[in-house]
Amino acid sequence: QPTSQQQQTGRTAAYDSAFLRACRREPVPHTPVWFMRQAGRSLPEYRKVREGTAMLDSCMRPDLVTEITLQPVRRHGVDAAIFFSDIVVPLKAIGIDLDIKPGVGPVIERPIRSRADLDQLRPLTPDDVKYVTEAMGMLVGELGSTPLIGFAGAPFTLASYLVEGGPSRNHEHTKALMYGDPELWAELLDRLADITAAFLTVQIEAGASAVQLFDSWVGALAPADYRRSVMPASVKVFDAVAGLGVPRIHFGVGTGELLPLLGEAGADVVGVDWRVPLDEAHRRVGPGTALQGNLDPAVLFAPRAAVEAATDEVLEAARGLDGHIFNLGHGVLPDTDPEALTRLVAYVHERTQR
Ligand code: CP3
Repeated sequence: QPTSQQQQTGRTAAYDSAFLRACRREPVPHTPVWFMRQAGRSLPEYRKVREGTAMLDSCMRPDLVTEITLQPVRRHGVDAAIFFSDIVVPLKAIGIDLDIKPGVGPVIERPIRSRADLDQLRPLTPDDVKYVTEAMGMLVGELGSTPLIGFAGAPFTLASYLVEGGPSRNHEHTKALMYGDPELWAELLDRLADITAAFLTVQIEAGASAVQLFDSWVGALAPADYRRSVMPASVKVFDAVAGLGVPRIHFGVGTGELLPLLGEAGADVVGVDWRVPLDEAHRRVGPGTALQGNLDPAVLFAPRAAVEAATDEVLEAARGLDGHIFNLGHGVLPDTDPEALTRLVAYVHERTQR
C-alpha cells in the first residue's frame, strides 16, 4: 500500500503537466489530449485482459484496473489517464443489486420509485471501496508525471439508472418522479450527492489529480428544471470536494442550453459535446472556466484527412480560450480504429506546439 506521502508525490509530479496547467488556465507547451472511454473495447489489449471477467468484477480487481487504465496511456501517449471503473461501482459497493450487461449497460434489480425503495441508498464509506484506493495507489506510482483523473456519475444520471432500472431514451419514470413527487426526488438526489461526494473524496485522497463528474443524460432536461430539481445536488458534490485542491470537470451530453448552469454548479472545467462550437460554448459558460472537448467521436470513422479537418475546426474554435483540453464530445465508440486515436493525439500535439 503506498503511503499518503507517495500519493502526494504522485500529485506533485503531475502538477506541472499540460493537462493540469490547462485545467488551471495556465500557459501550456501543447494542448493536452485525453479521451473519455479511452480504456475499453476499442483496444485489442483491453478485450484480451477482460476475457472471461465480468465488467463489475474487473472494476474490483486492482491489478486489472491498473493494467487497463495504463493501456491507452502507453498506446496513444495521451496527457492524462482516467481511472478504469464505472459510474455504478459506488452503488454496487453500498449493496444495490445491479449488473452491467454487455451491449446494454447498467441494469438495476429493484428500481427506486417509492420512499421505501430509498432505504437501498445508504452512505458510502472508504471501506466499501478499498479496491479503488488500492488500485489508485498503484496507478499513481506507475504514472509518474501523467495525471490520473478520478470520476463519478452525477446525481441525475445515477438517478435515471436507479429509477428506470436500466438505460432509457426518454427517462419517463425518472421525470414522473421528479415532477410528481418533488420531495422524494430531492431526497433521492441528496442521498446520491452524498454517495458521489464520498466516492470522489476517496479517489482524491488516493491520489487522483482531477475529478470528472459525468452527468451524461442531463441534456434531457430544460434549464429551469435543471436549476430547480438537479443543480442543488450537483452543487453539493462540487462544494464537498472544492477544498481538496484538484480541478473539477463537469460533463454532459446535449447540454447546449445548460452550459451556463454546468459552470455555475462549481466546475473548474466544463466538458462540451460536439453540438456547440467551443467559442460559442465559451460565450455561454463565461470567463474563468476552462473547456474540454469536443470532436464528434463518429468523425474518427472518416478518412484521415477528414479527421484532421474536423480537428482543425475544433482547435480553431478553441484558439482564443484560456484553458482548453482536447477530448471527444462523448466517449470513444467501441469499433473505433485505435490507430486513428493514436494519430489524433500526435496531430493535436503537433498543431498546438508552442
Ligand atoms: O476509459 C474510461 O473512460 C474509463 C472507464 C469508464 C467506463 N464507464 C468503463 C466502461 C467510464 C468513465 C465510464 C462511465 C460511464 N458508465 C458513464 C458516463 C460516461 C458516458 O459514457 O456518458 C455511463 C453513462 C456509464 C454506464 C455504462 N456502463 C454504459 C452505458 C455502459 C456500456 C454498455 C455497453 O456494453 O455498451 C457501461 C459499461 C462499461 N463501462 C464498459 C466500459 C469499458 C463496457 C463494458 C465492457 O467492456 O464489457
